[in-house]
Amino acid sequence: MKLIVEPGGTLRGETAIPGDKSISHRALILGSLAKGISVIEGFLQSEDCLATLKALQNVGVNITQHDHSLQIQGQGLHAFTPPTMAIDCGNSGTSMRLLAGMLSAQPFKSTLVGDQSLSGRDMTRIVKPLQLMGAIITGRQNEKHTFAPLAIEPCQGLTAIHYDMPVASAQVKSCLLLAGLYAKGEMMIIEKERSRDHTERMLQYLGGALTTNNNRLYLDPGRLLMGKEITIPGDMSSAAFFIAGASMTLGAHILLKGISVNPTRMGLCHILRAMGANIMLHNERLKGNEPVADIEVKGTSLKGIEVPKEWVVSAIDEFPVLFVVAAAAIGETRFEGLGELRHKETDRMMMMANGLQKLGVPLAILPDGIIIRGSKMAGGIVDSGGDHRVAMAFAIAALKASLPITILNAQNIATSFPSFCKIAHFLGLRPTEHSEEMSS
Ligand code: S3P
Repeated sequence: MKLIVEPGGTLRGETAIPGDKSISHRALILGSLAKGISVIEGFLQSEDCLATLKALQNVGVNITQHDHSLQIQGQGLHAFTPPTMAIDCGNSGTSMRLLAGMLSAQPFKSTLVGDQSLSGRDMTRIVKPLQLMGAIITGRQNEKHTFAPLAIEPCQGLTAIHYDMPVASAQVKSCLLLAGLYAKGEMMIIEKERSRDHTERMLQYLGGALTTNNNRLYLDPGRLLMGKEITIPGDMSSAAFFIAGASMTLGAHILLKGISVNPTRMGLCHILRAMGANIMLHNERLKGNEPVADIEVKGTSLKGIEVPKEWVVSAIDEFPVLFVVAAAAIGETRFEGLGELRHKETDRMMMMANGLQKLGVPLAILPDGIIIRGSKMAGGIVDSGGDHRVAMAFAIAALKASLPITILNAQNIATSFPSFCKIAHFLGLRPTEHSEEMSS
């Protein structure tokens, strides 16, 4: 599918944003590991989350849909049954990495597969520590790295480890915490930088014995998780496209209701505010152990900055759209410490740099970052490489473009934000979907 977005316009209006992707995955997995029924409100019905849902059904979990909620009949840690087929994680790194943690502890074989993009992403970061815990997990190997498909065999039992995380990654941390629920002894994980903490919050919410001390996490596997009602807030990483788009567009004024404002996800707002954005949080509250607020944004003109490295982890999924904002700002914006961007659904640094250059934006690539000079944006054809966030970021660029922007390979928007075009239209952006076969 390709998206053609008309240039100009502004964003105005009040809307909710679909449920948080990270929290939806965790609700499914932890609800399945808990004892008793969990009812999930606000579950994100996107391809990535549905991959996790099907995987859990494939190992025997009873998950049913009731109007707007999902019901999971958790049977505790030890009631899973062998999968009838390979577990297909599609495009979803979160599905593969989190499921690998819980499946490593099961008394049956399983295989995790993914699409072309996911099969090219490094799984060494989970395979190594899982092997240290005693898991029998192997993958396709090159000289240095391990990739999907991942084959998991039953092991003699997992042992807790003390693990100093080499990269800030919530997927790795969560994978190890899930394996740690089955391990002998207390897991300790050291994070140099704080990645999103949804697994920790939900484990505590369901009664797990997880404690934190500065940058250390401790998990005592002894305590039973109990099923509960879980309400999932709107996804900050989806709201991000409209928060960014409204921030950089004069005359814009939006109110996004019920969005996750977890401090480990607030990097986008910190960076936009440092550029001069007018973003206000209203009605801040806690829902199921997650902070939530309504976010109001008024458009203004933004200025380039040097982005502080300490905000990188909490904005990790937002850099595609932040690069667009930098292209629309006055002056230069310098981003550094972005090595992890090369390991997402695509090499996001290259995909964004190529596309922005096609739109006429001057930029320079650094070893682990990029300098973007604000300028007029033309229009043209850009390729998202099948990366949902790259595609949506270029749709937002159209607000500042002088001609339409055609975004190729945009079908994967459905992995995280299937209603993106509908909400974009409602707020004032003008994207239309076309099949790629049609001449442009
Ligand atoms: C996620 C963690 C992040 C993020 C991804 C979702 C999660 O990945 O980029 O979109 O739900 O745990 P890393 O853990 O690789 O940083």
